[in-house]
Amino acid sequence: MATMESLIGLVNKIQRACTVLGDYGGEGMSLWEALPSVAVVGGQSSGKSSVLESVVGRDFLPRGSGIVTRRPLVLQLHKIADGQQEYAEFLHAPRKKFTDFAAVRKEISDETDRITGKSKQISNVPIHLSIYSPNVVNLTLIDLPGLTKVAVEGQPESIVEDIENMVRSYVEKPNCIILAISPANQDIATSDAIKLGREVDPSGERTFGVLTKLDLMDRGTNAVDVLEGRSYRLQHPWVGIVNRSQADINKNVDMMAARRKEKEYFETSPEYGHLAHKMGSEYLAKLLSQHLETVIRQRIPSIVALINKTIDELNAELDKIGRPIAVDSGAQLYTILEMCRAFDRVFKEHLD
Ligand code: GDP
Ligand code: NA
Ligand code: MG
Repeated sequence: MATMESLIGLVNKIQRACTVLGDYGGEGMSLWEALPSVAVVGGQSSGKSSVLESVVGRDFLPRGSGIVTRRPLVLQLHKIADGQQEYAEFLHAPRKKFTDFAAVRKEISDETDRITGKSKQISNVPIHLSIYSPNVVNLTLIDLPGLTKVAVEGQPESIVEDIENMVRSYVEKPNCIILAISPANQDIATSDAIKLGREVDPSGERTFGVLTKLDLMDRGTNAVDVLEGRSYRLQHPWVGIVNRSQADINKNVDMMAARRKEKEYFETSPEYGHLAHKMGSEYLAKLLSQHLETVIRQRIPSIVALINKTIDELNAELDKIGRPIAVDSGAQLYTILEMCRAFDRVFKEHLD
């Protein structure tokens, strides 16, 4: 199992190197696309950013009413050894280590404005953020702008379609795992996430249904039919979530306290008590990580083929640049090459 973890860790690093250097793998599927990632999809204010934060166990995303997430955020989680200092790093500011997560939030916000202006415009250009922590699982998560039905004041009419097209460009990739977020206080039949999920993944094999805001449902109603898969069937089990409310956020209730509160909510709930062991953000993180393992296992032959092709291409490129490597780009190519070789090696050990 430790080997599988290191394999996923390597996939993560190769993905990151690919974003730094541009993609490799030539024609056909690129290396980045061959590697799985998880995209968070849903209507505005459905709780996407909150779910993402809960999975990470850290409070670092700009949040509020209206359209806050206006650029895709590609978030890579890297597990480091227990006791090591947790930190974050942006691709656009590679030498700066953030240990204060409030500063991470501000940087995301500033970097969003840098491209979109202070307008309510959206941009397809992703922000890349890596978090290194002992408390995460190796995972790439993508936070996306919320699907909307109408443009609000100051937004161009085309925004509804622009957002949908942007989100679709991520979720239509066959290796994209879809985290479809729907709020429990709205009819599941009208869920934007489920609608888009059904369109790009009709069999539901790569869609995880997540039901947020269970605590906000009308008295006398409950979501047992949804959570037990009777309202809308997916291949994977539905996961119910209770995120922090806006009041909790305003009171600075921290993530660990929120997780405890969520756990208690399910364990003491008369409706959901029997499902408690399969609910909540911690369980969701585990479920995703397990699924990712399965997917990577299935894809190993094609990933290895691509990596070998990449090794050949990189070797050719390095021959052109000349060795030993002096220039920066050569050194970086060499890094990818080394990682690809490491992947190949770990993979072979894994088979033995
Ligand atoms: P996004 O627009 O989909 O990213 O949604 P956010 O995560 O920013 O959440 C929108 C608002 O809903 C915030 O004020 C959150 O505090 C609140 N919220 C999200 N999930 C829950 C939940 O499970 N319960 C409660 N009570 N509030 C939630
Ligand atoms: Na929002
Ligand atoms: Mg958001």
